[in-house]
Amino acid sequence: MTIDLDAPGSSGLLDASSRREISFLSNMYVLGLTLTAGIGGLLFGYDTGVISGALLYIRDDFKAVNDSSVIQETIVSMAMVGAIIGAAGGGWINDVYGRKKATLVADVVFIIGSLVMCAAPDPYILILGRLFVGLGVGVASVTAPVYIAEAAPSEIRGGLVATNVLMITGGQFLSYLVNLAFTEVPGTWRWMLGVAAVPAVVQFCLMVFLPESPRWLYMKDKKSEARVVLEKIYNSDRLEEEIDQLAAAAMQDLESRKRSVSYMDVFKSKEMRLAFFAGAGLQAFQQFTGINTVMYYSPTIVQMAGFASNQLALLLSLIVAAMNAAGTVVGIVLIDRCGRRRLALFSLSGVLVSLVILSLAFILQSSCNSNNQILSLGFCSSGIGWFAVVGLALYIACFAPGMGPVPWAVNSEIYPEAYRGVCGGMSATVNWISNLIVAQTFLSIVELVGTGGTFMIIAGIAVLALLFVYIFVPETKGLTFEQVERIWKERAWGSEASSSGSSQKLLEYVA
Ligand code: BGC
Repeated sequence: MTIDLDAPGSSGLLDASSRREISFLSNMYVLGLTLTAGIGGLLFGYDTGVISGALLYIRDDFKAVNDSSVIQETIVSMAMVGAIIGAAGGGWINDVYGRKKATLVADVVFIIGSLVMCAAPDPYILILGRLFVGLGVGVASVTAPVYIAEAAPSEIRGGLVATNVLMITGGQFLSYLVNLAFTEVPGTWRWMLGVAAVPAVVQFCLMVFLPESPRWLYMKDKKSEARVVLEKIYNSDRLEEEIDQLAAAAMQDLESRKRSVSYMDVFKSKEMRLAFFAGAGLQAFQQFTGINTVMYYSPTIVQMAGFASNQLALLLSLIVAAMNAAGTVVGIVLIDRCGRRRLALFSLSGVLVSLVILSLAFILQSSCNSNNQILSLGFCSSGIGWFAVVGLALYIACFAPGMGPVPWAVNSEIYPEAYRGVCGGMSATVNWISNLIVAQTFLSIVELVGTGGTFMIIAGIAVLALLFVYIFVPETKGLTFEQVERIWKERAWGSEASSSGSSQKLLEYVA
């Protein structure tokens, strides 16, 4: 395989087009569509954040839950199991039935799940509700980025997809606030879990009025409908350019359009394997570099760092969630300026440094607890606790603008049209499986090698992630989908083979 580190720039085929100058705030139609689709991200974030708080009260209401940590773990992780299934199946729904129907289905399933949880008479019905909600979140996690990316002008595509990630991190922040707000209300957890149906209902109603993705329509031979949508996004010159590109892409994808792409097809072509490897790898590294460890366990981390008060721990975790959301805004601004690759590399470097700081803080602290000699050297002051908190803050500040949005943005844009749903779904599944693995193993690994050791392991993973991005992830900033497709052809077959291959297909099509 040729490793082409500056892939986009290296190809004469990939010169950015002229007149690509739409700004993030200048196209209200696309922004409105993004925010509506982004409600899927809000549900994703809210649901993953709310359960930790709700669980405290569910335990009070159901003795069976209080007595069994297995039931507690099942309540928490069943949504992730649902999301794994939802993301995998959602990719297929996206390709066959379209992005709009996939969103509507996700909403209905989510609403049912929220209501079931809200009314659950026993923990088992509650677990069923969690499964439904997870299915909805899983479908939404693959649909929203793809729907947004396909409506977005290429020069602001990254920022718009990152807006969906802002809705995720915003949703997490909101869930922490809701957890606090409902503590005094009778029926606490039923409200916390049931209230999520409201944004899903809102999204359902708004989506009814939004169009199907223009790219999906075009690929399904509904060209005039696609044109009507594109006319709302582009002025007349740019409109023709976009339609020409769609026509060219449709020619390329002719064979795959005749039948639906299956999951196995992804592994049959070399360029698809390369693209999927890059996309799924990014998703896995997003999770294995520990973001949800930090999110789920930030109160524990803060307490481990020596701050005993519950209130301070909760407050700090609220700050962590707020920083995560604020950092995502920085990502929205940077992703189409710096590019995905550079942003991910900077982000991972900072994540690496902060993980080392966290690790050292915990290692020093445990030495302090067990070794008086070090104590006398003066290492052991309350300063170590703050050192850990600085590591935590630095981690979020570095992760949020880069490794938070980049994997979602890259996965929404690196696959050819016919594969976009299936591959996006499979790599979102990788994200959810990795998320589950990290959540289920973090505390056991801490028991085995200590907190410091665990963060050192995660730091090691961050080094691998840096190498991975450097080697396998091409820059896709500002490129059209068709230009991105050519990157994979070049990587798979070399630049000459790729261009002669496409002209061959073009000739076949014309003939
Ligand atoms: C990830 C989530 C994570 C969130 C918080 C997202 O990009 O996919 O798993 O909880 O960011 O930063």
